[in-house]
Amino acid sequence: MYTDMPKIACTRTFGCQQNEADTERLRGQLRLMGFGFADLPDGADVMLLNTCAVREHAESRVWGHVGELSHWKAERPGRVLVLCGCMAALPENAEKVRCSYPHVDLLIEPRQIGSFANILSAYLQGKEPYHSLEPDQLSAAVQRAAPPRAWIPVMSGCDNYCSYCIVPHTRGREQSLSMDAVSNDIESLLDEGYKDFTLLGQNVNSYRDPSGGGGFPELLRRVCARGGDYLVRFMTSHPKDCSPALLEAMAGLEHIAPHLHLPVQSGSDRVLAAMNRGYTAARYLSLIDLARSLMPGLTVTSDVIVGFPGETEDDFEDTLKLVGQAQYDMLFTFLYSPRRGTPAAQMQDLPRDVKQRRFDRLLELQNSISHDRHAALEGTVQRVLIDGFEPKNDRPLTGRTPGGRLVRLEGGPEWVGRFVQAEITAHTTWNLFGKIGGNASCPT
Ligand code: SAH
Ligand code: SF4
Ligand code: F3S
Repeated sequence: MYTDMPKIACTRTFGCQQNEADTERLRGQLRLMGFGFADLPDGADVMLLNTCAVREHAESRVWGHVGELSHWKAERPGRVLVLCGCMAALPENAEKVRCSYPHVDLLIEPRQIGSFANILSAYLQGKEPYHSLEPDQLSAAVQRAAPPRAWIPVMSGCDNYCSYCIVPHTRGREQSLSMDAVSNDIESLLDEGYKDFTLLGQNVNSYRDPSGGGGFPELLRRVCARGGDYLVRFMTSHPKDCSPALLEAMAGLEHIAPHLHLPVQSGSDRVLAAMNRGYTAARYLSLIDLARSLMPGLTVTSDVIVGFPGETEDDFEDTLKLVGQAQYDMLFTFLYSPRRGTPAAQMQDLPRDVKQRRFDRLLELQNSISHDRHAALEGTVQRVLIDGFEPKNDRPLTGRTPGGRLVRLEGGPEWVGRFVQAEITAHTTWNLFGKIGGNASCPT
């Protein structure tokens, strides 16, 4: 039992948007328990690391932080260090904590986030933490970032078992939230001034209302039924489940942002089969064609893994070819990283220099495509939702186009949270620059 109950918490998030949303739930529970928040560990009694296990590099970063926090813990032994998220779900990491990082007090895996408040309270009272998967009373609390952007989890887990991926092992089976819960959430957030919602799930296309209601296109129709000025995005779509019906629903709903994140992973049919992805390069490209024909000007982004076991030079050339054809606005490229317990980890890993060389070639190709696609936007007027103000920057306002491209603009903090018309005046591979107002014609 602690004599001084801890009062200040600090959180750090690694990994994907789903982890960002989980941290908001963890912070919501901490706030209802009476905690305040510090930006840095120095001022905190409870330190919470919400972690990612998707690649070795992601894990090493976290272990580095955990190591550094041994001094933090030693300064005041009443402090509590919590390792949450995907790393905490893996038995080998629990073992590593026990042997090498005994200053970690609690491990909370993603499925336990709903019972975090109970687990922490029990621990603070000196009781053996009871690691239940049942949500507790405080589990509905969410402490979000300020408007205008909000994460909206619509499902958890993943049933796809891509042969390289650890996520089904860390987040468990797919479970969808009810349509009522999602749409009520959005309705109250609209009243609070939020204007840009991202529906989250590892594979939102397999969303299904648990009470026998509709699938993802119905959910989109439901959350777009309100009047007002707002945008709805979603991620991630899996190409094997991305149906023409979904693309038609997107095209017909004015609140849906014109952005499709459709990870392809590889352009080689042989590698796609070994990855257990369930589609071919030709079917993938026909989906992109259909999407662009239904939604001219659509932003399309993707993920590619370079150097999957057994990937030959020819397989990699197929990936370059697909990327050239798909003309992505942005591409997230990853070096394959073996994950223990996945089928791909049983296969022979390619030499690091082979993977790196291919990675560099792919990056070079995509950079030139991204650059050209940004160049084509110069001189156009875009509708931009201003979401941030960084006073030290020459162009202090940050915002996003409906397609999700980052734009930097001049102006004061009064613009934050508003949609503006902005003329695009310059660009780099990653950013667009612009000025509010502008007389150039609106793009279609
Ligand atoms: N559910 C999403 C995203 C999962 S993780 C999807 O299906 O696309 C995000 C990205 O990490 C994946 O799209 C993939 O490109 C990459 N990734 C996953 N496991 C990986 C591994 N073992 N090595 C390298 N990249 C990996
Ligand atoms: Fe991983 Fe595949 Fe599930 Fe995405 S769809 S989380 S890549 S198993
Ligand atoms: Fe990482 Fe877990 Fe997300 S492994 S990518 S934080 S689902």
